[in-house]
Parts: sequence; C-alpha cells; structure tokens
Amino acid sequence: MSFHKKSIFITGSTSGIGHKLAELYLRDGHRVGISGRDLSKVEQSFKDEFENLELFEVDVTDQDRMNEVITDFSQKGLDIIIANAGISHGPKSKRPDMEVARRIFNTNVLGVINTFAPALSVFEKQGSGHIVAIASVAGFVGLPGASAYSASKSAVMKLCESYALDLPKMGIDVTTICPGFIDTPLTQKNDHSMPFLMSAEKGARLIKEAIRAKRVLFVFPWQMSVAIHLLSYLPRFIYRFIMKLPVANYSKS
Ligand SMILES: NC(=O)c1ccc[n+]([C@@H]2O[C@H](COP(=O)([O-])OP(=O)(O)OC[C@H]3O[C@@H](n4cnc5c(N)ncnc54)[C@H](OP(=O)(O)O)[C@@H]3O)[C@@H](O)[C@H]2O)c1
Repeated sequence: MSFHKKSIFITGSTSGIGHKLAELYLRDGHRVGISGRDLSKVEQSFKDEFENLELFEVDVTDQDRMNEVITDFSQKGLDIIIANAGISHGPKSKRPDMEVARRIFNTNVLGVINTFAPALSVFEKQGSGHIVAIASVAGFVGLPGASAYSASKSAVMKLCESYALDLPKMGIDVTTICPGFIDTPLTQKNDHSMPFLMSAEKGARLIKEAIRAKRVLFVFPWQMSVAIHLLSYLPRFIYRFIMKLPVANYSKS
C-alpha cells in the first residue's frame, strides 16, 4: 500500500502536546505546519532535522492573520487541522479573575473558531478534511478554581459535538480530544496534585492514534475518563457535595 503524505496544521505547536504531536507526524514523513506566538521556543536542531516542517508565527486570537496563515499553508494541501493552542489559569483561585477569564475565552474558544474557519473553507471545496480540537476533561464539569478554563473547554466540546453531526455530510471528519493531566509547561505551573499525570510523548502518541482512527470523542487516560464521566452523570447536588470535600476542593485563597 502506498504511503499518503498528509498536510497537517497544528496551532500551539511550539511546546507541550502540540509540539510532540508535530514531531510524531514529521517522523512519519508528513508535512506539518507548526505555529505559535513565539517561534524561538522551537529548537534550531529540530528545525534543521525536518524538511517537511513549515513555521508560522501567529496568535490564534488574530482572526485575519489566522486566515492568512492557514490559507497560505493550504496552498500545498491541508488534510488535518488541529486546534491545540490553549492557556489555563495556572494556580487555582476561588476568586475568579475576570481579566484572565477574558484571555482564556479569547484563546481557547475564539482561537479555535479562528482556526477552523479558514480550514472549513478549504475542506468544503475539496469535499474532505479532518477537524480536531484539543479540549480537556475539565470541559465535562465546572471544576473548582478553574471556572473559565472549564467553561472554555466545555464550549469547545459542544462546538465539536455539533460539528460531528453537521460536517461528516460534507466529507469532513471531526475529533474532540479530552486529555487528563499531561506533563507540559502548562501543567508545570500547577500547585495542586495531578492524578494519573502522563508524559507529553505518551499523550501525543495516544492522540495521534485517536485521530488516525477518526474517533469522534477520545477521553484519556482511562482512569480519568471513568472518573470524569461518573462526576458528569451524577445529580448536580451530589456533585457539589463531593467537590466541596477537602480531598476534591484543592483551590486556594
Ligand atoms: N497539559 C495538560 O494537562 C492538558 C490537559 C488537557 C488539555 N490540555 C490542552 O492541550 C492544549 C496544549 O496544552 P499544553 O499542555 O501542551 O500547553 P503548553 O505547553 O503551554 O502549550 C500551549 C501552546 O499553545 C500556544 N499558545 C498559547 N496561546 C496562544 C495564542 N494566543 N496563539 C497561538 N498560540 C498560543 C503556545 O505557544 P506560544 O507561546 O509560542 O504562542 C504553546 O505552543 C491546550 O489547549 C490545553 O488546554 C492540556
């Protein structure tokens, strides 16, 4: 069977999960668009190693620039778009910081829309394509001390739940990925315990396999998947009771 080289664009691929995912695709010989606000995070040795690598300096909150960059990359093809760029609160706080909430929504929700909009135009024309969003287990429930992050990931999950009903008719696949805790610069800022923490390398491998299998929703690791599904199915008064217990409520101040 002949190898079909794919063109894959990944937002937020200068570090963490996105970067590992980009590396895995590049090692398989695919063409990969790596993007972020700060390209200096990508090591020179990495840039030198892969000839199928294209770099784009772009902020996902900048709609015009996102259009420009994704349209430019798609000139030589676009098969998979991965909306991975995201930010979190860092250390949790019971007092919501509305400025941080605005930044989180701009990046994690509008940034995803800005990513999918130009890709959708390309996919519609070619009658094929694959839209992937990196959401989070945090999107299943409102977590203590992470209101905006939970709400932003929930919004992404619902966007993609709808897309998965609408877009396959146009030949477009939709995958939502909900990781638990992955060891990246994002979680290295956390000052609370992180059960079932997984390496970025292992997380990226599982995500890549879920994309290959065209999973509609992939929640991992399985222990976190079981726990978060149970919490989301509980009557809400029981959920609130559990989350107020000292063992669950790890937010500070
Ligand atoms: N780590 C976890 O445990 C975990 C769990 C569930 C879900 N997730 C999600 O997984 C995704 C990747 O997170 P990560 O853990 O790999 O974090 P990370 O290492 O901090 O990587 C985040 C990436 O997003 C980019 N980014 C942030 N804001 C951006 C913006 N406005 N425009 C363009 N790029 C931007 C960053 O690059 P620049 O700084 O160069 O812009 C970086 O490449 C996020 O959506 C996160 O919410 C992570």
